Amino acid sequence: MAKPKRRYVCQACGSVATRWQGQCADCGEWNSLAEDAPATVFSAKHDLSSGGRPIEFAPLDAPGEVLKRRSTGLAEFDRALGGGLVPGSAVLMGGDPGIGKSTLLLQASAHMAKSGAETVYISGEEAAGQVRLRADRLGLGGAPVRLAAATSVRDILTTLAMMDPPALLVIDSIQTMHSDQIEGAPGTVSQVRACAFELIRYAKDSGAALVLVGHVTKDGSIAGPRVLEHMVDVVMSFEGERSHQYRILRSIKNRFGPVDEIGVFAMEGQGLAEVGNPSLLFLSGREQPVAGSAVFPAIEGTRPVLVEIQALIVRLASGATPRRAVVGWDSGRLAMLLAVLEARCGLNFSSAEVYLNVAGGYRLADPAADLAVAAALVSALADKPLGRDAVWFGEVSLAGEVRPVAHSGVRLREAAKLGFTSAFGPGEASEKRDGSRFAAIAMLPNLVDRIMGAS
Ligand code: TYD
Ligand code: MG
Repeated sequence: MAKPKRRYVCQACGSVATRWQGQCADCGEWNSLAEDAPATVFSAKHDLSSGGRPIEFAPLDAPGEVLKRRSTGLAEFDRALGGGLVPGSAVLMGGDPGIGKSTLLLQASAHMAKSGAETVYISGEEAAGQVRLRADRLGLGGAPVRLAAATSVRDILTTLAMMDPPALLVIDSIQTMHSDQIEGAPGTVSQVRACAFELIRYAKDSGAALVLVGHVTKDGSIAGPRVLEHMVDVVMSFEGERSHQYRILRSIKNRFGPVDEIGVFAMEGQGLAEVGNPSLLFLSGREQPVAGSAVFPAIEGTRPVLVEIQALIVRLASGATPRRAVVGWDSGRLAMLLAVLEARCGLNFSSAEVYLNVAGGYRLADPAADLAVAAALVSALADKPLGRDAVWFGEVSLAGEVRPVAHSGVRLREAAKLGFTSAFGPGEASEKRDGSRFAAIAMLPNLVDRIMGAS
């Protein structure tokens, strides 16, 4: 049999290399490669004459397996999960430090405990006293949550085996857990994987819903193991700018539901408050019309959210390389849009610095934002404010066409409901639709003419 090869796993992205290198070839992180247990080389073929047992096939509609979900007590959390926690499932919750993961999970545990469900909250980062203090501050001190500060997976599983399985088991965080079955410090890929594997197996066997908190690296992926994302049923990310109040809970992967619903929270003195109707949150207080600001009716899952996009253009006198900075949108998409505006509309951004910001710490993922971003850019370049009562949406192609997008009706209705009386988007004719004046913009040059021509 071949000698098992050494292998090295990047602690940041989980990619595997056969030789040690100072820098990971995949994610570019320095000093992140560590030796991992060798992958066993299978060269033998199965001997089918003995040992194997036949497996049973079942029909897809096997009875008795109705998906039961349990509410977390927080409607926005349930919504992002696709309707609540599924017993026996494993959820990975990622997010920047200080964004509010522990607060959210403590609140959910307390609500569930108050409604009579057994909940266990294991903190590997904070002492039990610290968690208790926080619970007191949140007014949840009386909830019968079983709280412990522990990091040994063996101790945790031994304790859990002696009691009835809880409805919810929170592990905060998986990077602090340690398994004595395997070598290495907590937080290394092999440790995280081994701990997660054991905890997930416990959840599957016992029917407890498991939530693992995972730290996030600089580039936003869940630290250590990419492999963790494959092991769990649901991957969620808790997002927001720490300096802003609003937080968005998004599911990135969900084996039991859709991934496009979001939960919206506001971080307040009393912990996270649910925001049931987020459509107006991401508009800045707009008193005076300002050049470079455009409102975009975004769709998150099934809910419309109106978002303000702000652009600033600074002309450079010298030949210095101009900066492009984006907060809340894809910088590659901005580069593309600038190129289309230059090539198809004859505008010149090459000697100017371009800054783009999405108000309220919101992160836009909806491709229909193109037209609103283009409107903000053109408005900033021409120094002409857009109408305060207008919304813009549509996807822009490389040829400069404005392409139709999904849910135009919902976007228009929400905008009209919130007092926006005119809308610009892809379509054939200009007409009055769903309570607001709708003007079709077929090509990007039409948009430029409309904004530049307006006085
Ligand atoms: P935390 O849940 O500890 O974040 P994470 O577990 O994701 O690292 O959240 C900590 C932040 O939340 C902290 O910076 C203070 C803020 N916060 C409030 O504003 N109000 C509150 O009631 C609580 C508990 C926290
Ligand atoms: Mg925490």
